[in-house]
Amino acid sequence: NSYSIAVVPGDGIGPEVMDGALKVLAAAEKTFGISLEYHHYAAGAQHYLTTGELWNRDLEQQLRTHDAVLFGAMGDPLVQPGILERGFILAMRQAFEQAVNLRPVKLYPGVATPIAGLTPERCDLVIVRENTEGAYVGQGSTIHANTPNTVAVQESVNTRAGIERVVEYSFKLAMSRRRKLTLCHKKNILIEAGKLWQEVVDAVSARYPEVQVDYVHVDAMCFHLPIAPEKFDVVVTDNLFGDIITDLGAVIQGGLGVAASGNLNLDGSAPSMFEAIHGSAPDIAGKGWANPVGAILSAAMMLAHLGEKTAAQAIEAAAVNVLKDLPELAGPGMGMTTNEVAAAISSQIRAD
Ligand code: NAI
Ligand code: MG
Repeated sequence: NSYSIAVVPGDGIGPEVMDGALKVLAAAEKTFGISLEYHHYAAGAQHYLTTGELWNRDLEQQLRTHDAVLFGAMGDPLVQPGILERGFILAMRQAFEQAVNLRPVKLYPGVATPIAGLTPERCDLVIVRENTEGAYVGQGSTIHANTPNTVAVQESVNTRAGIERVVEYSFKLAMSRRRKLTLCHKKNILIEAGKLWQEVVDAVSARYPEVQVDYVHVDAMCFHLPIAPEKFDVVVTDNLFGDIITDLGAVIQGGLGVAASGNLNLDGSAPSMFEAIHGSAPDIAGKGWANPVGAILSAAMMLAHLGEKTAAQAIEAAAVNVLKDLPELAGPGMGMTTNEVAAAISSQIRAD
């Protein structure tokens, strides 16, 4: 129960919500007799603008020595979009083989959702997004650039091994939940990739006879997810579809302030990384209005992944208690500052 954690606060509200998460983790350490040793790393837009450094071998080797990476957010209007996403976040996911992007979509009591009539009982699912392949491999080419005949080809790479590990993980997860797994793809159009995904799901499914399996096209998913999230328990999908439907999931569960995520390395070969799904929010940075709950729930996911399930559940329960009393989830209407929300959650952590 002693862990070494790499802390990468990043830019904008990243460091603000990270402070909140560390405060809550400190309370959990005390209550549950866990010991977390932190190592802070400078990275992100500010660091890039002053040093020119992105993801690199040195940093990779240092981060590798830790049990997990806790990540804030990266991005700044002064840095061209894409540089940090590809140059740091994607680089880490690939270098550390963080095969699964885990995104719980849970509507907590008292949290306002734009979906009329939706209740927490009906909204408790997990999206498992393949995190290293698909359209995100960065392969493709442009023919006849800068002419009227330009053709841009962007490839999506899907390997049996890559699909197998996330599908296997998804079935295990379904076994610990309501035993239902939905493959989300577009197999009627993306024939080659869709066939392989379905083939792997069918093969793995033979080893999990208790898990009920179905299939939903990604466009239909955008229809079903907001209206009837109770249809889903574990949804497994590829990198690009996962990126899109997890944002839809975040809307349904009440917005960027509450959504958490884990980038999981499944074979223990490198650390997993945990982050709120929001960005650096330069529009509200420095105001003290950032909601730290997404970062706090991501820290709880980190503890669960490290094996500290009781502590993780206690943080989630405490966050739920505080969330239900927040009039709004962002901005001055939240009624509490980032630090006050974190302090309130810390004080609600109970051992029972
Ligand atoms: P964003 O998530 O930073 O902000 C979108 C909107 O939501 C803003 O109005 C912001 O104020 C609000 N918001 C976000 N998180 C909030 C929180 N915890 N509490 C209250 N309000 C919150 O997305 P945006 O504006 O598109 O991107 C800003 C920068 O962040 C860009 O540089 C982008 O590339 C980067 N980004 C980084 C991500 C990461 O580090 N994983 C993910 C998404 C964006
Ligand atoms: Mg996204």
